[in-house]
Amino acid sequence: MHSLIKGFSRLSREDKVALLLEQQELAPQLAESFQEFLHPVKQHLFNDISENIISNYYLPFSIAPNFLINDHLYMIPMVIEESSVVAAASKAAGFWAKNGGFSTRVIDTLKNGQIHFTWNGNIQSLASVKHEILELITTTTDHITQKMRERGGGIVDIEFKTIANMLNTHQALIKFKTADSMGANFINTCLETIAPHLMDFINKHPQLKSEDKATTIMCILSNYTPQCLIECSVRCDVEQLKPYAGNYSAIEFADRFKTAVEIAVNDPYRAVTHNKGIFNGIDAVVLATGNDFRAIEAGAQAYAAQSGTYSSLTTIEINDKQFTYTLKVPLALGTVGGLTNTHPMAKAAMQILQQPTAEQLMQIVAAAGLANNFGAVASLVTSGIQKGHMKLHLSNVLNALEATETEKTLALKHFKDTVVSYSVVEQFLNQLRK
Ligand code: MEV
Repeated sequence: MHSLIKGFSRLSREDKVALLLEQQELAPQLAESFQEFLHPVKQHLFNDISENIISNYYLPFSIAPNFLINDHLYMIPMVIEESSVVAAASKAAGFWAKNGGFSTRVIDTLKNGQIHFTWNGNIQSLASVKHEILELITTTTDHITQKMRERGGGIVDIEFKTIANMLNTHQALIKFKTADSMGANFINTCLETIAPHLMDFINKHPQLKSEDKATTIMCILSNYTPQCLIECSVRCDVEQLKPYAGNYSAIEFADRFKTAVEIAVNDPYRAVTHNKGIFNGIDAVVLATGNDFRAIEAGAQAYAAQSGTYSSLTTIEINDKQFTYTLKVPLALGTVGGLTNTHPMAKAAMQILQQPTAEQLMQIVAAAGLANNFGAVASLVTSGIQKGHMKLHLSNVLNALEATETEKTLALKHFKDTVVSYSVVEQFLNQLRK
């Protein structure tokens, strides 16, 4: 084991790389790869994004065309490493564009911030002075919220709750609207400004008696945003589903699809994988647009477990031969501020999407999630997932096995109608190379 490294962040990029190679006993050629993936002109932008940067990590930036969402056609940028995701999204988008498209409804856009504090007074007594507290938090944050209020956002409400299983530990749950920004910095600044005034108010108010002083423990936004919610549906006559039905009739396909969704509704093991297929689409657009995919994942996964049991984020209905498939998911997204305005490719993504508002982006992201999930479940209940997946994966396997262009052409032809696996492709190349 090498000794602990001090002051790594203060070294130049070159010195960081040299130290890394030395400490980890790595081949010097690795330094060339790190160098190769630096941007010749815009590296300064990437250098400001994180710490200890030695290179850039490329992921494909793709387009899924033909997304008809509320009668508006979008070409959706997606950043993802899994080869079948963009193809599945594009195929589903093309299909639904001919069958009414995606209908979306933004249910609400409320975001939450929490001030946690200890206090041995009566929490209900805070509710009785709520109007005074609202007035206090509004005036103390006036200078911070002014621009946000001009854009239609600001502080909306406050509630007090005692933390479960924790006597004398409470939270002020403050509701915000943050217009087109994701709002994390805005919310956190408001909370940290409010907290000392709120504690002071509680400690000095004649109606709020307690033995100990109210004391702040921490202030932070919550990434659980069940009231920043979007619903996205597709609907068609069951007979229209024939292109996805494979060897089944359209009605058989619809029934099998419905059963598959109901399994995900009722079985957490399946629900996780089912929702993963939704996040294939969601994360890819969230990443392309420079939004915080960890926040989206954390909030939406918690929402999937809101009943106490983890479940599917989609629901299905087949009534009078009408197939209706719906995704409901919290998506706290922003289209201004953060990486959306600084990362050149996130900016490009926003241009491709015609500079959407945050509410429009919620609709676009939800449609991408539903499209990917629809494609995945449709494959699962017909041909199975591996046929299409491994075909798209073939190029990755060929690259991993360092196939030449001629070998690639021969392999693509050879595996045109077969299910491929790594070992089968390896055997094929070994034969060729004999
Ligand atoms: C693979 O990335 C996603 C799927 O597993 C989703 C699903 O099972 O529904 C195919």
